[in-house]
Amino acid sequence: MKIRPDDGLTFDDVLLVPRYSRIRSRSSVNTAAYLTPGIRLAIPIVSANMDTVTESHMAVTLAQEGGIGILHRFMTIEQQAACVEKVKRAESFVVEHPDSISPRVTVGEARLKMGEAGIGGLLVVDEDGRLCGMVTTRDVLLAPDESKPIREVMTGLDRLVTAPISETLEEARQTLYTHRVEKLPLVDAEGRVAGLITAQDIIKIQEHPSATKDERGHLRVGVAIGARADDLDRAEACLNAGADVLVVDIAHGHSQHVIDMVKALKSRFPNAPVIAGNVATGEATLDLINAGADAIKVGVGPGSICITRVVTGFGVPQLTAVSEAAEVARTLGRPVIADGGIRTSGDLTKAIAAGASTVMIGSMLAGTDESPGAPIVRNGRRFKVVRGMASLTANIERKTIEKDARLQDDDISQVVPEGVEAIVPYRGSVKDILHQLVGGLRSGLSYAGAETIEQLWDNAEFVRITPAGVRESGAHDVDIS
Ligand code: XMP
Repeated sequence: MKIRPDDGLTFDDVLLVPRYSRIRSRSSVNTAAYLTPGIRLAIPIVSANMDTVTESHMAVTLAQEGGIGILHRFMTIEQQAACVEKVKRAESFVVEHPDSISPRVTVGEARLKMGEAGIGGLLVVDEDGRLCGMVTTRDVLLAPDESKPIREVMTGLDRLVTAPISETLEEARQTLYTHRVEKLPLVDAEGRVAGLITAQDIIKIQEHPSATKDERGHLRVGVAIGARADDLDRAEACLNAGADVLVVDIAHGHSQHVIDMVKALKSRFPNAPVIAGNVATGEATLDLINAGADAIKVGVGPGSICITRVVTGFGVPQLTAVSEAAEVARTLGRPVIADGGIRTSGDLTKAIAAGASTVMIGSMLAGTDESPGAPIVRNGRRFKVVRGMASLTANIERKTIEKDARLQDDDISQVVPEGVEAIVPYRGSVKDILHQLVGGLRSGLSYAGAETIEQLWDNAEFVRITPAGVRESGAHDVDIS
């Protein structure tokens, strides 16, 4: 029998030793970190690719707050690509395909279209795509004659403020302000519509100064994929929809089919960043990086809804796994994502101090408004459901979708779940949770005398603690009401 000489450690086994610090305020530290070598996040938080955690609403909010969401893969390729598009459209300084109408439509038709689309204005565009004018609700809502042609009530091109395609955010802000207008159509040299900038979109952007954005100003989003042949199609559809990063997400990532998948992705989509996992050793980290992975996801069995360790007997306590993976990955310039088991901001700080660049969080985010599904009420209290992606119900649902038919009892009894279904208290907006997590991390950086996450890696010193140390670390010997 081979047995490692050192104990495997996890978050509760250790504390970080306070270090000399010059930091006077936690607001002066920088929490930015690399998700992959080409994607930097203002906050090192990634929402888990679980069907009770990340669809487009969660991904939008995470990216607005400076993190990123990874869309789960337990939906059809088309649905996942549509989720990507939704995130990409959520916050953009240029609406690339603004809603428009022909100059031939009537006031009544324009009013109907605005109502259906829930928008306050439409560009009026001829059959060659040239801008003729603009109508807003003010032009149509109280118009006495519904059958009037729209060209008679619209603001014509001669009175419309427009801008060239090259208009920057700052220029657009100035133009909108100077002319006191709310919408700025962009036109090319031939007068064809090339986009629309609205004051509302600029205001939205100002509200999220740390948002995670791509080069074109759209929010970034990642997608989980599997390691089967049709996952290459999934990757392609999601990349075409604008996905920024692919996450090959397999429970045992140190497998030949994952290595082959990473190689296939890198050869077919050389510019797409690929994260691969999940692994729990330095050796696995090296193999996936050699296959071409840009970042490594670490965690076998630490998650709140995971029973992999119970069912299979395999896993490595998360702090040890992260530290071993990070030691290998750091020398090769690849970031590590610590995935699973984060319950507090202290766990987050420990995971990063152990060498992770970012953390992936599941059940802590599952109780929020932004996670899929509505809250349920039990005994007057609100909860939301969270389930492992290898849980019985998730397995049954997945197989049903694959077979496109109801499962037989035999199919169900074949399932060996490695995850559980559970409920978590409803917790309001994810922003409040992020605020607490990032606030704790900021304090943690100041206790370490570190202004950045990179400095935290260098300054971190852990001390192992005993059960007495664990007891002492929480509130104790008081009644907590
Ligand atoms: P937390 O603790 O943040 O963990 O809820 C989220 C991570 O748990 C993993 N995950 C699973 N692991 N069986 C497992 O062993 C499962 O059914 C399962 N579902 C999710 C996953 O890595 C996720 O990010």
